[in-house]
Amino acid sequence: MSQSRAGLRTVAIVPAAGLGERMGQDKALLDLGGKSAIARIVATCCAAGIGKVLIVRRNDAAPLPELSGDGVEVTLVKASGKGEMADSLRMAFLELPRDAEAVMVFPVDHALVEADTLLALRATLLRDDCDIALPLYRQQPGHPVAMTRAVFAEIDRGGVTMRDVVRRDAERVRAVTTSNPWVRCDLDRPEDLRSARAALTGQPWSTVAQMFRHRSHRSYRPDPIPDPQIERLVDAARHASTSSFIQAYAVVAVRDAELKNDCARLCGGQRHIVEAPVFLAICADLSKLAEACTQHGTELQSQSFELFLQATVDAALLGQNLALAAEAEGFGVCMIGAARNHPLELAQKLGLPAHCYVVFGMTVGVPADDPVPRGRMPLSGVLHWNRYDASDVADVLRKADDGMRAWARRTNAEQGGYNGRPVGEDKGWAERMAKAWGEGSSYAAAREVLIDELRQLGFGIE
Ligand SMILES: Cc1cc2nc3c(=O)[nH]c(=O)nc-3n(C[C@H](O)[C@H](O)[C@H](O)COP(=O)(O)O)c2cc1C
Repeated sequence: MSQSRAGLRTVAIVPAAGLGERMGQDKALLDLGGKSAIARIVATCCAAGIGKVLIVRRNDAAPLPELSGDGVEVTLVKASGKGEMADSLRMAFLELPRDAEAVMVFPVDHALVEADTLLALRATLLRDDCDIALPLYRQQPGHPVAMTRAVFAEIDRGGVTMRDVVRRDAERVRAVTTSNPWVRCDLDRPEDLRSARAALTGQPWSTVAQMFRHRSHRSYRPDPIPDPQIERLVDAARHASTSSFIQAYAVVAVRDAELKNDCARLCGGQRHIVEAPVFLAICADLSKLAEACTQHGTELQSQSFELFLQATVDAALLGQNLALAAEAEGFGVCMIGAARNHPLELAQKLGLPAHCYVVFGMTVGVPADDPVPRGRMPLSGVLHWNRYDASDVADVLRKADDGMRAWARRTNAEQGGYNGRPVGEDKGWAERMAKAWGEGSSYAAAREVLIDELRQLGFGIE
């Protein structure tokens, strides 16, 4: 790992010299949503800021459409041999510009991979402990593969394939989790093409389907999440609606291990906070409003319960958006309401300004567990038409009880319990809620100091 990683000049190499025999067509020219596969790849490289693309083609291949432009320089490399990947890569190596420091091997089969995956791979390759970055979909490695020039040069030796290079030393390989299944899927057969075209309509992996798949994850692999990916997720999340455009939220992303341990301690010692590569503190933040008031010669009405509520709702909307965004990229999350156990001390640890508190935390990472989905109470207890209908509340609770018991049985049978302990299979939802939130509630008792500490943090709720 000799070179400086300040910013690697990356060249994309697109092996597109195969005969496409099983597909029966030249894969580079396949129409994917009105654009050829090769044009899609060049546009994706452009969106990811890759300025040079080497496309490896057979001598007798059909001409490609006009591809240069938009700041991308495209060069055709003539392939010899049978269009094998290894041969194509060796030909590309000979044509690699002298100043190229890294390559992104982007086979034409993976034309539906998007720019965010490329950006995450490149950001990962910037790390000193990474020479090869590859995407991981459902724990399986895929394409494109990014690598330093020095690693790519290993391919130049006869008989060495890209797989050999990747497998040579696991220490130099880092994975980037993605939710895009096309990092794993080849465009080999006509049915692959049909799936690819269907995927472009957004049907099989819709947001709604993803929402139904939600589960809280409480165990994580150590794989880090690249900073640009966190930035992008938070940026997307904050596009949630915001009351009167007040944008009364902030996110503190805690990576520092010691600080994360402190956060875990203040949140009831939850192990998943220590284990997750990042702990996000989702804050209601009126400090920017306070500053705006000062700038304009007035004073923030921080005693307003309405304003407290607006900031808290804003933070919750951002938080849920963030959870969805992280899940969409293949991560698992768990929200941490225990961040309100010691709001004052947590605010001090995180250096929060006045008028700012952590509404809840969130662990994010590549899941290492596979929890049994909890399901939810019957929809009739939640969705009402025109007027609230409470007539079947007893039935709703009975079904919620049954659901809870079924979840407990499955969790005990499949996971040996919940958080390492067997779950009582007799208690239903209603009994658990009554114990948690009825008289003598330990939850309520634990948060008795909350309102007082929130006042000290600048939310003078009246
Ligand atoms: C605001 C909020 C705070 C939460 N706090 C915690 C927490 O401190 N620790 C934890 O393990 N789970 C926490 N959870 C996760 C819930 O326990 C979980 O969402 C619920 O049991 C439903 O399970 P599911 O998310 O797997 O469907 C929290 C969830 C929310 C929405």
